[in-house]
Amino acid sequence: MRRIAPLFALLGAATSSPVSARSAALLDCLAAAEVPVDEVGSPEYKLDATGFNLALRYTPAAVVAATTVKHIQDAVTCARENGFRATPKCGGHSYANFGLGGEDGHVVIEMSRMNKVVLDKETGIVTAEGGTRLGHFAWEAYNQGKRAISHGTCPGVGAGGHVLHGGFGMSSHTRGLASDWLVGATVVLANSTMVRCSETENPDLFWALRGAGGSMGIVTEFRFRTFEVPEKVTWFIAAVQWPTEERALAGLKAAQEFADTMPAELNMRLFIARRFVNFEGLYHGGREGLQAALAPLLKATGANLALVKTGDWVDQARHFGGMTNIDQQHGHEDHDTFFSTSLYTKALSDEQLRAFVGYWFQHAKASPRDWHVQMDFHGGKTSAVSKPASDHTAYAYRDALFMFLLYDRVDHGVAYPADGHLLMDNFVGNITQGMDRDDWGMYINYPNHRLGQEEAQQNYWGRHLPRLQAIKKAVDPEDLFHFPQGVLPA
Ligand SMILES: Cc1cc2nc3c(=O)[nH]c(=O)nc-3n(C[C@H](O)[C@H](O)[C@H](O)COP(=O)(O)OP(=O)(O)OC[C@H]3O[C@@H](n4cnc5c(N)ncnc54)[C@H](O)[C@@H]3O)c2cc1C
Ligand SMILES: *[C@@H]1O[C@H](CO)[C@@H](O)[C@H](O)[C@H]1NC(C)=O
Ligand SMILES: *[C@@H]1O[C@H](CO)[C@@H](O)[C@H](O)[C@H]1NC(C)=O
Repeated sequence: MRRIAPLFALLGAATSSPVSARSAALLDCLAAAEVPVDEVGSPEYKLDATGFNLALRYTPAAVVAATTVKHIQDAVTCARENGFRATPKCGGHSYANFGLGGEDGHVVIEMSRMNKVVLDKETGIVTAEGGTRLGHFAWEAYNQGKRAISHGTCPGVGAGGHVLHGGFGMSSHTRGLASDWLVGATVVLANSTMVRCSETENPDLFWALRGAGGSMGIVTEFRFRTFEVPEKVTWFIAAVQWPTEERALAGLKAAQEFADTMPAELNMRLFIARRFVNFEGLYHGGREGLQAALAPLLKATGANLALVKTGDWVDQARHFGGMTNIDQQHGHEDHDTFFSTSLYTKALSDEQLRAFVGYWFQHAKASPRDWHVQMDFHGGKTSAVSKPASDHTAYAYRDALFMFLLYDRVDHGVAYPADGHLLMDNFVGNITQGMDRDDWGMYINYPNHRLGQEEAQQNYWGRHLPRLQAIKKAVDPEDLFHFPQGVLPA
């Protein structure tokens, strides 16, 4: 065993491109500090260095398999001292593979081996290490004391990327964003020091973490307040039949009126695929409550309930996660080949709705590709997301009534076409055409990887950008935690 290890190291180096002096110095530095590094070509390397989106392939300078905070601090030091950019990766589920740096040559610090989750029963505070995936968090918080936070649906998504950039899910209308449950964090900064932050300790950093965290530092520990899970919840699918543009227009109009004032306990979205359209969601409560809450929407849109099921908190997590095992940890693999973009809007005017439906029926439906548009009922008068002041955290679009995810995939093994992005980009372009620049934005957790950095920052953080750039300058003036759509220092 001892004699074989160095041989593998040599083979690993020999099969990659010629090792530059800088890379050699980086690897020496990591070795001297005893930081574990994945061997190029090993199964662990493959697992850690493959991003969610197979259309975007990036090669890291090194992949650090961190198991302690000291590994993270030493990896940050080695990257900084040798002129490399450092990037933490948690669940690796960024649609633009930002966990790999979103470009070649980063020192990727894989966090997913660090995922301890502990509930303090007295306070209801859950402490989670910086590499925890949402499914593991939900499983542990539930089993240790029937506690939860609201968060997105996929159990393989990392708390790192999800919480630090907002985090919207099937309980957010009732319970707010995932980041709204964060009460404190421990962060390794670009100068390798470790700091704690909260509303009272380093409050600027804490503000920035809740919306733009990936640009600020490496969170090694999250501290969340939690709620007691509802005894029963009810999930549903309601099928929509809108055969004509006129029907779709009337349906969308009714749906958006409903979205603004729907009961707080209801969480839902409109899922538009090429061949079918559904409302789907989760009600905090039983079947009768759901049916009463939905009745006006079903009547106004002609939708029919196709599925209604009541169960406990873990049942709904399994339903929306599409998996029986939600306890996902290191080793979880899930990939797709696709282009994504997103859009936040207020309620749409008649003209904007007409442009939306026109593009949908005349262009998108005509495409043979496997696209979908997910229209989340995000904000509005009764939404917990819109309750806090708009500048409460770095998350920039609390007021938006809708959050759209536009997603266009190709089959496994097929390359995404070079001009494929136009299908979804033109969808967004047709809706926002003529809209005030302040009236729309984009969600970095549903990124458009083709945007340049200036445009991306503007779209993701809007009015919060100047404050974020000032905080970035204070905590990471050299932009060590750079990625192509991150916050730049002022
Ligand atoms: C199948 C699927 C379903 C999804 N569903 C939803 C949903 O319902 N709602 C929703 O809002 N989003 C959803 N998303 C989007 C998801 O929230 C983002 O992709 C998220 O950023 C992924 O986080 P990650 O840790 O897995 O990704 P990574 O690629 O590991 O990281 C993403 C970004 O966060 C940074 N980061 C990661 N960990 C840390 C850390 N510890 N400290 C500092 N920075 C860190 C990375 O450097 C990178 O910039 C979904 C994504 C997928 C693939
Ligand atoms: C609207 O869609 C059409 C058809 O794809 C496209 O040619 C046009 O450029 C789009 N308009 C905008 C403003 O994006
Ligand atoms: C590290 O950076 C932080 C944030 O800029 C600063 O407050 C702290 O003093 C720095 N620590 C050292 C040891 O330089």
